[in-house]
Order: sequence, then C-alpha cells, then structure tokens
Amino acid sequence: MLTIESSYSFKKPDKKTLNPLALYIHWPFCLSKCPYCDFNSHVTHIIPQEAYAVAILNELKHALSTVQSSVLTSIFFGGGTPSLMTPQTVENLINYATHYLPVTNNLEITLEANPTSVENQKLQDFRQAGVNRISLGIQSLNPQALKILGRQHTVKQAIDALALAKKLFPKISFDLIYAREDQTLSDWQRELKIALDLANDHLSLYQLTIEPETVFAKYSQQGKLKLPNEQLSADLLIITEEMAQKYSMQNYEISNYAKIGSESKHNLAYWRYHDYIGIGPGAHGRITEDSILYATERYKNPKIWLKTVQKQGHALSHKEALTSLDKAREMILMGLRLKEGIDTKSFKLRCGIELIEAIDLEVLNALIDENYICWDHRRLKTTLTGKIRLNAILEAILK
Ligand SMILES: C[S@@+](CC[C@H](N)C(=O)[O-])C[C@H]1O[C@@H](n2cnc3c(N)ncnc32)[C@H](O)[C@@H]1O
Ligand code: SF4
Repeated sequence: MLTIESSYSFKKPDKKTLNPLALYIHWPFCLSKCPYCDFNSHVTHIIPQEAYAVAILNELKHALSTVQSSVLTSIFFGGGTPSLMTPQTVENLINYATHYLPVTNNLEITLEANPTSVENQKLQDFRQAGVNRISLGIQSLNPQALKILGRQHTVKQAIDALALAKKLFPKISFDLIYAREDQTLSDWQRELKIALDLANDHLSLYQLTIEPETVFAKYSQQGKLKLPNEQLSADLLIITEEMAQKYSMQNYEISNYAKIGSESKHNLAYWRYHDYIGIGPGAHGRITEDSILYATERYKNPKIWLKTVQKQGHALSHKEALTSLDKAREMILMGLRLKEGIDTKSFKLRCGIELIEAIDLEVLNALIDENYICWDHRRLKTTLTGKIRLNAILEAILK
C-alpha cells in the first residue's frame, strides 16, 4: 500500500490572516440501508477498517497540504455511520488535523452516531478520542415509526444513548424525521414535546423528503406512501417552530433548532459559505487557494475511492474554480436557509459582486410585497411564510 506520510511536512500557517475552515470526514458504511436515505452510504458484510483508516488519513494529509492561512473551526465525522469507525481512527484524524493547522479556542468536533447498542458502547471511547459533540440519529420516538423507517435501534436504546451522551459530551444534538406517513399534527406535537423535554440545546428536525431511487421513492410511485399534503407540511413546520420557541430553541436554520450560542459551528460554516474541506468517498469541499474558490469532489464509490487514494494519495475526481456568479448562487442557496439570512457585505467580499447583481430584482420585489422575503439592504432573509416555500423562492429569485 502506498503511504504518503513522508511527502508532507508539518507546517503552521501564519496566524495573522486566518480564514475560518471546517473539515468534513465521510465514513460511507452502515449496518443497513434505511428506505428513505440517499446519502453515500453502503452496507458491507465486513468493513475494511484498517484500509479505510489509512486511506482517510492519507487523504487528509494531502488535503491539508494545500490549505493556506486558515484556522480550523470544526471537524465533522458524517456518513454513512461514522460511529462504526474505530475510536483510534477518529483520534488519529483529529490529532493530525489539530497538529497541522491552528485551531480556534472552541474547536467543535462532532460525530454522527446511530444509537444501536454496539455503537452506544463506543461513546466513551469517542469522547476520549477528542470528540466533543455528538449528533444522535434517533429519527423517531415512536416504536412503529422506527420500524417503518428501517432503523436498527429501539426507542429505549435511543433514550439510553442520549442519557449516556449527556454524561460524556459537552454538546449533544439529535435528529428526528417528521411529516411521516399518516402522521397527524397531534401525533407530532406529542412526539416533539418528548423530544424537547429530552433535548439539551440543539435538535435537527427534518421533514421527510422522498429522494429519488430510494425504497420510499418506489413506494411513493406505487401509491403506497401517503405523505402530508402541502397544508399539513406547512402546519407541521409552524407548530414545530412554535413549540421549540417555548423551550428557547431558535429555528436558526430551516431544519435546525438551538439555544442561542449552541448552533452547530460546522453547519453554520456551510450555510455562511465559508471554506470547508471534504474528505472520504463522495465528500464535497469549497476551498480557497490563491484567492480562488474551488469546488472539490471525491470519487463516490468507496471501492474506487480506496483504490484511487492507495494509488495517488487522494481521490479527487473534480476540482473546479468557481466564477462570481457560481459563488453567488451557492451563497444565496445556503444563506436563505438561515434565520439570520445573508449579510450583504460578506456576500460582496466572498463573491466579488453585489447581491442585487445575482438576483432577479423584479421577482425580489414581488416576494418582498408578498411577505416571503425581507431585505433591509444589510441582510436578505426569508420570513416564516417564505421558509415554508423556500424551494420555490430559490428557484424564482436566482438569475
Ligand atoms: C447523514 S444522515 C444519517 C446519519 C446517521 N447515519 C443516521 O442515520 O442517524 C443525517 C440525517 O439526515 C436525515 N435524513 C436523511 N435522509 C432523510 C430524508 N430522506 N428525509 C428527511 N431527513 C433525512 C436523518 O435525520 C439523518 O439523521
Ligand atoms: S439514514 Fe443513516 S444509517 Fe440509514 S442508510 Fe442513511 S446514513 Fe445509513
């Protein structure tokens, strides 16, 4: 196996002019494939732990060797199911990144964990490896719904995992999926109340989306899956926001709720359109080199990704310099998901053009008149009604 260890020397970039940088590490394996999921996740009988551990570390080394003047603000282990990684692999990656780059004082290190019993036993080791934020994929607190969602854990395991995580980690979040088949407003209210009582200071609450080529997409095409209509989806979103508000959980991003100051730094980095490195199969990145922002992609298929890293030290499949308009479109797509919206000064700095140059002004004015968007020339934001129709708004507003 090719090792590229000796090719990269440790160097600390100049600390004076540092840009925030987030690091995403993708682990592509799962115990089973959930019927709604279109993430780059694969079920394999035996996970080749050692080969992937070496390859991810080598890809990290390669990626960091191109980083200029940046300070690491967050590391995120996502998947797939990164709680299937060995804690040693997680520790090695954290150690390498945090020794190579300067880091912020409150470096956020998140790991997505599935609350099955096997993975629950590893939580303590992940904490010792340096993870300081855990994001549990609970998905539902209803036993029947967990079965329909194809989950491998029970409600009890999820609640036990949460209790253990609370003892071990300073920051905890968990994910739920709502707007599920046959779910009424009062069903969700009951489930959400339990979730809010259990939550610490961060929750991700996703409305079920039917992604192409999933099992749910097939059921949906066959008319076997009856999801909430537009009105019920909107009501579910409104009730979710109202209930979360009573627990001082702000809806800071369309699907994310947090007490002030507990927002996920990593996710904010995406939505504020900062630089991030993505390594591992299929991971995307946005990284500045010599003042040019590049979009990067890596081979998606884990076997091809592994072979490519073993051959050349990284599995970059695509690296493209983004134009001002590319950046503008992406920053609008990301920023309008945020409650804070898009800061026009940051927009100009990042994209090199004014916000108004990237949007259709006629559409913008109509959306402002209809109370979907508000704009005080400092920030462009969606209103609550705008949030409900975000996809249509984005389609209409972009030039
Ligand atoms: C990377 S995924 C999964 C992480 C982890 N493997 C798990 O299953 O808990 C992150 C989150 O996206 C959400 N998600 C995935 N597919 C979804 C879909 N089709 N609709 C709504 N939410 C979805 C789930 O809540 C999930 O926890
Ligand atoms: S939802 Fe999570 S556990 Fe299920 S297939 Fe997707 S990544 Fe894997």
